[in-house]
Amino acid sequence: MAFGWIEEQARARRRAGLVRTLRPRPADSPLLDLASNDYLGLARHPEITRSAAEAARVWGAGATGSRLVTGTTELHTTLEGELAAFCGFEAALVFATGYAANLAAVTALAPHGSLLVSDAGNHASLIDGCRLARGTTQVVAHADPDAVRKALGAHRGPAVLVSDTVFSVDGDAAPLGRLAEAARESGAGLVLDDAHGLGVLGEGGRGAPQGAGIAGAPDVVVTATLSKSLGSQGGVVLGPEAVIAHLVNAARTFIFDTGLAPAAAGAALAALRLLRREPERAARAREVAATLYERLTAEGFEAVRPDAAVVSVRAPSPERAVRWAEECRAAGLAVGCFRPPSVPDGVSRLRLTARADLTDAELRRAVEVIRATRP
Ligand SMILES: Cc1ncc(COP(=O)(O)O)c(C=O)c1O
Repeated sequence: MAFGWIEEQARARRRAGLVRTLRPRPADSPLLDLASNDYLGLARHPEITRSAAEAARVWGAGATGSRLVTGTTELHTTLEGELAAFCGFEAALVFATGYAANLAAVTALAPHGSLLVSDAGNHASLIDGCRLARGTTQVVAHADPDAVRKALGAHRGPAVLVSDTVFSVDGDAAPLGRLAEAARESGAGLVLDDAHGLGVLGEGGRGAPQGAGIAGAPDVVVTATLSKSLGSQGGVVLGPEAVIAHLVNAARTFIFDTGLAPAAAGAALAALRLLRREPERAARAREVAATLYERLTAEGFEAVRPDAAVVSVRAPSPERAVRWAEECRAAGLAVGCFRPPSVPDGVSRLRLTARADLTDAELRRAVEVIRATRP
């Protein structure tokens, strides 16, 4: 049997309690949502959904082609200009997903003979970028500038340090200033994934690199997704003009992929404009995360102090993490559940996301459900 080995793998997964299944979300879900990445509560904001619908009406349901053929509209170039200006970079390029943006930035900036130094806690899309790149990858200890320094030390030729700004599993932030220093000492570039920083960190949500004072530097390239704080879909790479022009000519996930759908571009643009008008949303997401953390640790839970909008709560085992999340759901609360192999350290967690639009009563209810269902 050609695919007989699949059943063997499925059995092993069942034994380890690691089976994943899909569960369609109803449009009018009654659950209190602490599972999505809609940090600013914009995915269903009327201004954003109206802009998505209007963009589809004007430009079509699909982009109709790759960006270099028919897939670039005025909406795409306007979005790129406004994203670059907002985050403090010379130029920007949008992609169909954040995943594709990461593959593009990492592969295009790591030619033959180059060194990629990659944080051990990086997101799968950065890891896959390193796997696809022509350079050699060295994985270094999590958030450790000295390990970066050591890895870069002896290398001659192009090098990049690749790191998330906020790590998706535990919600902790990378020490960006110190990492930038370590990279600069040996002339290496930085590729930073700000998926969880854009809209939450920096001045009015301008992102973690802006907050760390390194946005717009000639050796810094930042990627982000449009699918979290901006409530849409898609990805972006931000950086010096020469780097963006290089991506247009060399990044395979840019060249060989259909452009970002107009509705997604329209929604992201509207969300960005709304965030410029209402910068307090970023601070509110951080405040909600801090409150969640304080209340959960006061109840004796082991959680990681959040640097952005993700709060990670330790669970005793993969099976009990899954059961805990299920019991939360049965009690009306949707939470995320991270377990191996998504977490390389083997520690299972509940992952809670702080949305800027959660009320204090909702936060209290969330903590009460998590406490009452504790394994
Ligand atoms: C850190 C990080 N980078 C990149 C991505 C991928 O972005 P997208 O969902 O837009 O493909 C995600 C998750 O979605 C993420 O958490």
